[in-house]
Amino acid sequence: MAHSPSDWSTDANEAFRLSLVRAQDDRASLTAREAYEGFHPTFTYPLFGEEEKLYGYRDPKIDLKFASGSLEQYFHLSYTAKLPSSSAVDDIEGTVAKFIPAGYYTDEDEFKKRVEADATAFSPLGTRILTYTRPASTLSRKGKHIVIPQVLSPEDEETVDFEVYHCTWQTPGFREYHRRMQLFILLYIEGGSLISEEEELWEFVVLFEKRKRRHAPEIATYHFVGYSTLYPFYCFPERVRMRLSQFVILPPYQQEGHGSALYMAIYQYVLATPSIAELTVEDPAEAFEDLRDRNDLKMLLADERFMREALGEGAASNGGGGGGRVGRRRGAGVPVGLRAAKKGRLG
Ligand code: ACO
Repeated sequence: MAHSPSDWSTDANEAFRLSLVRAQDDRASLTAREAYEGFHPTFTYPLFGEEEKLYGYRDPKIDLKFASGSLEQYFHLSYTAKLPSSSAVDDIEGTVAKFIPAGYYTDEDEFKKRVEADATAFSPLGTRILTYTRPASTLSRKGKHIVIPQVLSPEDEETVDFEVYHCTWQTPGFREYHRRMQLFILLYIEGGSLISEEEELWEFVVLFEKRKRRHAPEIATYHFVGYSTLYPFYCFPERVRMRLSQFVILPPYQQEGHGSALYMAIYQYVLATPSIAELTVEDPAEAFEDLRDRNDLKMLLADERFMREALGEGAASNGGGGGGRVGRRRGAGVPVGLRAAKKGRLG
């Protein structure tokens, strides 16, 4: 039976499914585990070309699973039919393999064993620079990937910690870890590209969820949430201008304030580091501009000294902690920015 070419062409973003896999004991305490499995990339053009199509397969499914903390990977391709191999038929595994480290798992049982082992063996690399806590009941309850009944369990009354770590290429094991997470930049940031390991000065901030096991609270497990890359440029006469280059929060964790928390961790790190003169952002996406503006404003409105100096006596007491709605768009007439905050505190 003859088939039209469109029968063999599939949307690559739909076919590609990502999962953050937790060990059995950690899955048991999750109220929303569906959220972490089977979510899709926003972009696949860096892998499969501008059209973001897979050609040559009927009903292809690409499963790329990550151990939720160590990010060890498992790849599986399934389909119901495939055209005879030719140059027109996509080599799906060969293409994905160019973007993930060699040695990924293709045997799911072996991968699951690795997930179990890594769950307790893995802990974040680098130096912890921030911790914050959220009630478990507010996590993964909203957003387009999640369809779960709102049944409250005792787990919902618990809190979950989130920790931010600072790393450089010199952090032991970080190069290998970065090779496992950098694909997220291509899959979620429009125009994102991989950074060069030859450039020694890159810095990284990585966000993890830290869970205590329900039946063994002395055991903590860590789960990757997102990360950002920073590059220091020389700033006359003897400091650096830090440029935030890439920033991603994985879809299961978006819209829960983690992007804001990661940005604030970077902000506080910059404020606390005298050698950094200012923080700039490379080609920010619109969603990131919103996030930055909201958080910069919040920070400045809460800074009494800045409010006094910028708006005069009396402003500080009116501005701080107001919680009022402020303009979201850039250029709203407020002198937003870390440069102003740094001048107030350090300059
Ligand atoms: N409950 C409900 N909504 C919340 C909560 C909460 N507890 N906390 C925050 N929100 C809302 C915020 O008000 C905001 O709403 P708005 O968009 O309507 O204004 C929204 O959630 C987003 O704020 P955060 O949750 O702090 O941000 P998030 O964790 O979703 O991260 C980001 C935003 C980084 C843009 C993320 O969506 C992402 O990684 N996207 C893909 C990659 C990307 O575009 N990265 C930026 C590229 S630019 C660059 O790299 C320099």
